[in-house]
Amino acid sequence: MLDISNPVRDGLHGFDPAASHRPDASRSAFSLTQLVDFARRQWPVIAGAVLVASALGLAYLFMTPPRYVSRTLMMLDTRRAAQVFQQQAVVGELSFDEAAVGSQVEILKSVNVAQNVVRELKLNQDPEFTGEVRSFFGSLLSGVTRAVTRSSSPGNATSSDESFAKAVRKVRDELTVQRVGRTYVLEIGFISLDRNKAGRIANAVADAYILDQLDSKFTATKRASTWLQDRIGELREEATTSDRAVQNFKAQNNIVDTGGRTVTDQQLSELNTQLVTARSATAEAKARLDRINEINEQGAVNPTVADALRNDVIGRLRQQWVDASKREAEFSSRYGRDHQAAVNLRKDMLQIQRLTAEELRRIAETYRSDFEIATSREQALQKQLSATMVKVADAKQTQVALRVLESSAQSYRTLYDSFLTRFVEATQQQSFPNTEARVITPATAGDKAEPRTASVLAFSLLAGLTLGIAVAIGREQLDRVFRLPAQVERALGVDCLGILPAVDGAAATLKIAGMLEHLPSDLSERPILRNLGIGRYVVAEPFSRFAETLRGVKVSADTSTPVGHIKVVGMVSAVPAEGKSTVSVNLAELIAQTGSRSLLIDGDLRNPTLTRLITPDAKAGLIEILHGKATFDDLVWTDPITGMDFLPAVLTTAIAHTSGIISSPAMERFLAAMRERYDYVVVDLPPMAPVVDARAAAHLMDGFLLVVEWGKTSPEVVSEALDSAEVVRERVIGAILNKANTTVLKRLEAYKGANYHRYYRNYQTG
Ligand SMILES: Nc1ncnc2c1ncn2[C@@H]1O[C@H](COP(=O)(O)OP(=O)(O)O)[C@@H](O)[C@H]1O
Ligand SMILES: [Mg+2]
Repeated sequence: MLDISNPVRDGLHGFDPAASHRPDASRSAFSLTQLVDFARRQWPVIAGAVLVASALGLAYLFMTPPRYVSRTLMMLDTRRAAQVFQQQAVVGELSFDEAAVGSQVEILKSVNVAQNVVRELKLNQDPEFTGEVRSFFGSLLSGVTRAVTRSSSPGNATSSDESFAKAVRKVRDELTVQRVGRTYVLEIGFISLDRNKAGRIANAVADAYILDQLDSKFTATKRASTWLQDRIGELREEATTSDRAVQNFKAQNNIVDTGGRTVTDQQLSELNTQLVTARSATAEAKARLDRINEINEQGAVNPTVADALRNDVIGRLRQQWVDASKREAEFSSRYGRDHQAAVNLRKDMLQIQRLTAEELRRIAETYRSDFEIATSREQALQKQLSATMVKVADAKQTQVALRVLESSAQSYRTLYDSFLTRFVEATQQQSFPNTEARVITPATAGDKAEPRTASVLAFSLLAGLTLGIAVAIGREQLDRVFRLPAQVERALGVDCLGILPAVDGAAATLKIAGMLEHLPSDLSERPILRNLGIGRYVVAEPFSRFAETLRGVKVSADTSTPVGHIKVVGMVSAVPAEGKSTVSVNLAELIAQTGSRSLLIDGDLRNPTLTRLITPDAKAGLIEILHGKATFDDLVWTDPITGMDFLPAVLTTAIAHTSGIISSPAMERFLAAMRERYDYVVVDLPPMAPVVDARAAAHLMDGFLLVVEWGKTSPEVVSEALDSAEVVRERVIGAILNKANTTVLKRLEAYKGANYHRYYRNYQTG
């Protein structure tokens, strides 16, 4: 923030030691007043800037063709649009968070969409989009460049590629896409010179976006299904290979599927059954063999014994033996034991017994071989069983390996199946891609968007105001001169007794000329009869501000010391031509007019302008008196109008040691004498910066009046001059700002009220 509260003080504080010591109440308490003062001082600059800026703004408004904006509202629908297939999408659904909506906005602004719009609406053939229509500043700029470079053809034929690119760039420039609040609605705005075209393009952008979305979905789905297809091919092969591996393994390991049991398992149980049977058969054969052997060991076997064998032959023999024994018993009892028939029968019985024994032996043989067969069979089975048992153990190992193979085959198959399902889904989606976005409010003919009259005007006003204030502040900062009493006081630590306006000497000359014609007859010895022009301004215009200010100066001189009024006043300034001589003569005349005895001494021995103005004919003056070559009474001149006395200074040759003369004891004595004769003595002195006279004579003066040229002399110069002459500074009654511009002054002092200046008779001229 720029500090405009007190630009002058801020600009001057660098050389004002007094300023920092003084209690600075004005800074905060009067900041508003200071602001108002600032505005009063600088309003022409500010107003000028505002005017120029407003003119530019108006020119812009008149010269810029109006442009229109149309808006399309598009909804990014979170619910899936017509869900044709209840399935998982190949491409993940958008979750529509902040980032997702932002991305959609970027897609809408993308080159792709813009290109499609340009293509669709053939905007590359539209002069608005190929750059042949220029903006206000554009045409201004091109006009200037053309004038500078003197090239006449502004737009030579551009290639179609170039105009297409231009149109795309233009579309992207004029397109605005923004989210509506926290909704899923996007507002697509387009600005164009034609209100209908703006609507068409806004809609085309929405369409292009939706098409682009569909396209990208289709492409993604297609890419996914191609990938799936490849993968499915691979998976199919893998599945087949692993299936084949299972089959081969089974074949190699003799594994047949039989209700979950293997061949070997079955064999084992069958062998077991057979072995059990074989064992019982062997046991039976053994029992039979043992029995027969037992019978045979008893010797002459009673055939009845053999009955148990249930052998047919044995049975028949037994029957025969029973029959024979029965008959023998009959015959023996009937015919006696020695009966032939009985003897024969007994012979038969023996024969039968023999045959039976023979038969038994034969049966025993058979039983033995039966037993042996059963035994060997059992042994064979036993061996086979053992072998099978080993095989079963092996088969268990194979089973594990088989299971591994089978499970991998299974997983390949599952994977293959699921991929196949996905593939089918993808292919279906490919033929029915759908998008979440839809237009909810299509754009119509646009409203006027640019130039916005109110904002352009407001902006130019504001810009002008800002610029004006900036320039004004700059001016005040750079303006290192005195314009107001406060500045003098701040910078120099010296009271400012008033401002003397720049006055017109010619007007005064006329009035004085009239006065000089009606002079009384009893004139003094050396009357000042010349028309002094500006040198008699207080006489010519006694009611002017000029005169009034000098009256104030006199009052200050009278009241500035408690001891008594100041009698001898030295007139000083920092540099030449600030108006010392002019102020001196006017002040002396003014004092004389009030009835006081007033003497004006030309003490500027380097450049006695007063003498040249008032008494160019004088032959002697101050120097002669100081040298004792003449008396004061012989050399003093008198103004017949006011009664002011004037002592000239006549230089016959250029004197180097003027400071010695002006500060000499003779001068002191002379001034002491003058103090007796006059109420006031005004001594015009040379400027302080170039010569030391004022400093040298300081002790002879009661006080000094410091004349500073208004709006010209820089504070540094005055300050330096005062610093180098501390004696003068101590005796300065106050400073007078001279040659003020009345117009500016009136503005600066407007705070004193509109009628302030009317108090001076000739307020127009000062
Ligand atoms: N208030 C004033 N209005 C108009 N012109 C002035 C005023 N004061 C001084 N001048 C002019 O300025 C010039 C220099 O003035 P002068 O009194 O000779 O300055 P100095 O004595 O300081 O060198 C003279 O031409 C004089 O007429
Ligand atoms: Mg002078």
